[in-house]
Amino acid sequence: MYYPEELVEEIRSRNNIVDVIGSYVRLQKKGSNYMACCPFHNENTPSFSVNPSKQMYYCFGCGAGGNVFTFLMQYESYSFIEALRALAERAGVALPELEYSEEAKRTADLKSRLLAVNRDAAKYYFYQLKSERGKAALEYLKNRALTDDTIRAFGLGYSTKYADDLYKYLKNIGYEDELLRQSGLVTMEEAKGVYDKFWNRVMFPIMDANSRVIAFGGRVMGEGTPKYLNSPETPVFEKSRNLYGLNIAKGQRKGFFLLCEGYMDVISLHQAGFTNAVASLGTSFTAQHARMMARYVKEVLLTYDSDGAGVKAALRAIPILKEAGISARIVSMKPYKDPDEFIKACGPEEYQKRLDHAQNSFFFEVEVLQQDYNLGDPEQKTRFFNEMAKLLLQFPEELERNNYTEALAQKYMISFDSLRKLVNRLGVQLEPSRVAAQTVEREREEGRRRSRPEEGMKKSQRLLLTRLIEEPQAFERVKGIITPEDFTEEFYREVAALAFEEYGKTGNVNPARIINRFESREQQTEAAELFSTQLPAPMDEAQRRREFADTVVRVKQNSLQIQYEKAVEQNDFTALQGIMEKQKGLGKLHSSLNPG
Ligand code: UTP
Ligand code: MN
Repeated sequence: MYYPEELVEEIRSRNNIVDVIGSYVRLQKKGSNYMACCPFHNENTPSFSVNPSKQMYYCFGCGAGGNVFTFLMQYESYSFIEALRALAERAGVALPELEYSEEAKRTADLKSRLLAVNRDAAKYYFYQLKSERGKAALEYLKNRALTDDTIRAFGLGYSTKYADDLYKYLKNIGYEDELLRQSGLVTMEEAKGVYDKFWNRVMFPIMDANSRVIAFGGRVMGEGTPKYLNSPETPVFEKSRNLYGLNIAKGQRKGFFLLCEGYMDVISLHQAGFTNAVASLGTSFTAQHARMMARYVKEVLLTYDSDGAGVKAALRAIPILKEAGISARIVSMKPYKDPDEFIKACGPEEYQKRLDHAQNSFFFEVEVLQQDYNLGDPEQKTRFFNEMAKLLLQFPEELERNNYTEALAQKYMISFDSLRKLVNRLGVQLEPSRVAAQTVEREREEGRRRSRPEEGMKKSQRLLLTRLIEEPQAFERVKGIITPEDFTEEFYREVAALAFEEYGKTGNVNPARIINRFESREQQTEAAELFSTQLPAPMDEAQRRREFADTVVRVKQNSLQIQYEKAVEQNDFTALQGIMEKQKGLGKLHSSLNPG
């Protein structure tokens, strides 16, 4: 961590989590907590809770959680440092100059300098578009029905006909050659000299989720190849991690995103009021794209080009989205090429109707399949039904599979029974590894999970940690018995060490403060999840004591067992003796914790 821990903690404690989250989400007081519909997944009944005494949030639906820093990191896609800065400002705390390590300084520095170059380039292109030289370019954009407001919102611009115009400008305001080369905006070759990458094109700045310009696309005005030229990947631009339009779409809270292919599709859709449109821009859609989307929505409507390539791209994207927990529906743009042309020809109302009739992704897959077969020919029809049955095997749940089987049976006028028999037969014959095996495997896995001793052990350690955090007097009761080393789960051990340390210093444990000590959002969330473990239902004092004693003894027993195995392995007999003594003492330990 770059900033001193005390400062981070001061900033955290000066920002009440209820106020901060309350400025983004409508919170309702429920008992000692506040509840809301979770901003990180789609739901109708609130399972997102904010706990003022723990200064933590946690969603029982999707597992999102953490402290006030985590929230901003998750909601605004901030890095830890960005979240820290925003909250420092909010609380009026001045941040000192950062003490970077040399290495961190170099990369952070390079990135922020590249962002500055991109920002200045965008300003320059924008300025050119509005100048005399940019007349034709502005005309081009106007011809494509873009308004001044849209041009400004997306920061569109123009790169002039002069081969090193931008280079001269950037050089003039003080940027060095090496940085300009790394920005990808300028090429430098011994033989040819220095050239701007983009000339005589309308320019589309590509922004990250926080509206910082990270790259550009430039389109020829009219015909020409390549139609679009794009910045190369740089330290600030990774194609597979960026979605065009996300900076705007992420704040729309419509519950779903529109996913399209190109710059102009996103821009036209936004102009028509569909401000939740994003695009992966020519590069194919990746699992990283899907995971980014999953932070904001659970549903995506694919509004790809209507040509063969668009259909293929949609078929590829569907399973990637599914894998990220997003359900997909397909919007048809026929007979138009893409959303841009559709909107221009038919207007927003018609587009909205297409959204309302978006097709379930499975039916879409079947329909695409069907196009390869002539259903008038009995032999081809049989082959089609076979392939369709194979597709049905992708649903491991029998009920869901049957529902789809029924729908397809109706659509293709075949009896439900014969289609289902076909599906079942194929399930056994062709792909025994899929349906049947999948179901069996899952059941087995669940059984294993229930009975696996490590899982039970993990639970005991979790329970003990949660108890310690909820009732710090429990620290006194385990004094001399339990140490952080007894937590055999690595992450729990780390958390326990922090909790013991804090209790030792202050006589208290503050979950949000412990979360501070982890820098990655994943670990913060894991800690929040841990601190939100549901303790067993309220019990009377005697039950409570017994349960506590059971938990402590289980955790200790496990820890001793592991020490025992290690001592045996190392032939360390002195240690072995000590461990065995302690093991013998476990019974006594239990009765000392639970007397009477
Ligand atoms: P399209 O060819 O579908 O173009 O490419 P488009 O978006 O409809 O563009 P207009 O309407 O003719 O202006 C879709 C996307 O693929 C990328 C761009 O991101 C484009 O928006 N692409 C396409 C390139 O990067 N380079 C190209 O030469 C073509
Ligand atoms: Mn187009």
